[in-house]
Amino acid sequence: MDVASILVLLGGCVVLYLTVQLIRFIRADADLALLWAELLGHKPEHQLPGKVVWVTGASSGIGEELAYQLANLGALLVLSARRKNELQRVKKKCLENNHLQENDVLVLPLDLCDTGSHEDATKTVLQHFGRIDILVNNSGRSQRSLFVDTDLAVYRALMELNYLGTISLTKHVLHHMIERKQGRIVIVNSVVGLVGACLSSGYCASKHALLGFFNTVRSELTDYPGITITNICPGPVQSQIVDNAFTEQVDKTPAHTDQSHKMTTARCVQLMLVSIANDLYETWIAEQPALIVFYVWQYTPTWAIWLTNKVAKRRIQNFKSGMDADSYFTQKKTKTS
Ligand SMILES: NC(=O)c1ccc[n+]([C@@H]2O[C@H](COP(=O)([O-])OP(=O)(O)OC[C@H]3O[C@@H](n4cnc5c(N)ncnc54)[C@H](OP(=O)(O)O)[C@@H]3O)[C@@H](O)[C@H]2O)c1
Repeated sequence: MDVASILVLLGGCVVLYLTVQLIRFIRADADLALLWAELLGHKPEHQLPGKVVWVTGASSGIGEELAYQLANLGALLVLSARRKNELQRVKKKCLENNHLQENDVLVLPLDLCDTGSHEDATKTVLQHFGRIDILVNNSGRSQRSLFVDTDLAVYRALMELNYLGTISLTKHVLHHMIERKQGRIVIVNSVVGLVGACLSSGYCASKHALLGFFNTVRSELTDYPGITITNICPGPVQSQIVDNAFTEQVDKTPAHTDQSHKMTTARCVQLMLVSIANDLYETWIAEQPALIVFYVWQYTPTWAIWLTNKVAKRRIQNFKSGMDADSYFTQKKTKTS
C-alpha cells in the first residue's frame, strides 16, 4: 500500500470516528465519560453484589428505584426516609423476585434534618451489617417559586435538608469509612448544582453548595485512595420531586403536574449505578436538549445564560399557568416529532 492510500485510509478512520462520536453526542443522555464507562467500564452487576448500601430518600422516586435495582443486583440495603410505611412497602418489593433474605434489607426511618439522630442511625446500621460500603445521599426536596415571593424560611429549610442534613450524615459514615480505609460516598446532586434554573433559586443554591463541599472533601481524602466521592447530577427525571417541592411558604406544596415527559427513573438509576461502579467523580445524566446546555455552560457561560434566560421565560409562563415548568421541552419535542 502506498503512502497516499494509507493517508486516505487514516482520514476515513478519523471521519468515521468523528461521525460515531457526533451521533453518540446527539443521542446522548449522559456525559461522555459516563457513556464510555457504561460501554467499556466496570459493570454494576460485578461491582455491587454483596455490598452494604445505605440509600436515603428510599421511600419514593429515584431512591425507591435505586433500592429495586440494587436489590436485583444482590446488594444488602439500608432504606431510609421519614415515612416508615413507604419504606416497608419498598422493602417488601425488594424481597420479591430475588435472593435477598428479610435481614438483608434494613428499614431505618430517618429525618435528615434531625442531625442529632445521625450518629445513632449510623451505629444501628453498623450493628446490623457490621460495615457500610456505600452511602447514597439521595434525600432532598426541590422548589417551585420565584425568589421575590418566597419566605426566607424556605431557603433555610432547603439548606437544612439538602445541604446540612447530607453533610451531617456523611460525616458520621465517613468516620467509619476512614477506619476501614474504604467506602464510597455518593451524592445525588442535580444539573442545577452546575447551572441556574428559574423557580428553584434555593434548591440550586443547596445543590451548588453540595458540589463545592464534596469536591473539597474529596481533595482532603487523598490519603485514603480507597474512599471515593461521586457527585451525580441528573436533569429532569420522573419522580415525586415536584409534588414534594417547597413553594413560597414552608408548609405549602405545589399542585400536581404531569411528569411523564421527563427521563424515566429506571434509566436514570441505571446510569447512576454505572457511575457508582466506576467511581466516577462527577456525572451528568440528562436527555437532549438539556444536556447540551450544560456543555455550553462549561465553555461559554455567557451564551448559555442568554439561552437559558429564553427558556426561563417559558418555564415561568408554564408555572404560572399551572403546568410543569419543564413542559417547554415536551412541547418542543411534540412539535418536531
Ligand atoms: N427528579 C428529578 O428531576 C431530580 C433531578 C435532579 C436531582 N434530583 C435529586 O434526586 C433526589 C431524590 O429526589 P426524587 O426526584 O426521587 O424526589 P422524591 O420522589 O420526592 O423523593 C425524595 C425523597 O427524599 C425523602 N425526604 C424528603 N425529606 C426528607 C427528610 N427530611 N429526611 C429524610 N428524607 C427525606 C423523601 O422521603 P420521605 O418523604 O418519606 O421522608 C423521598 O424518599 C433528590 O436529592 C433530588 O434533589 C432529582
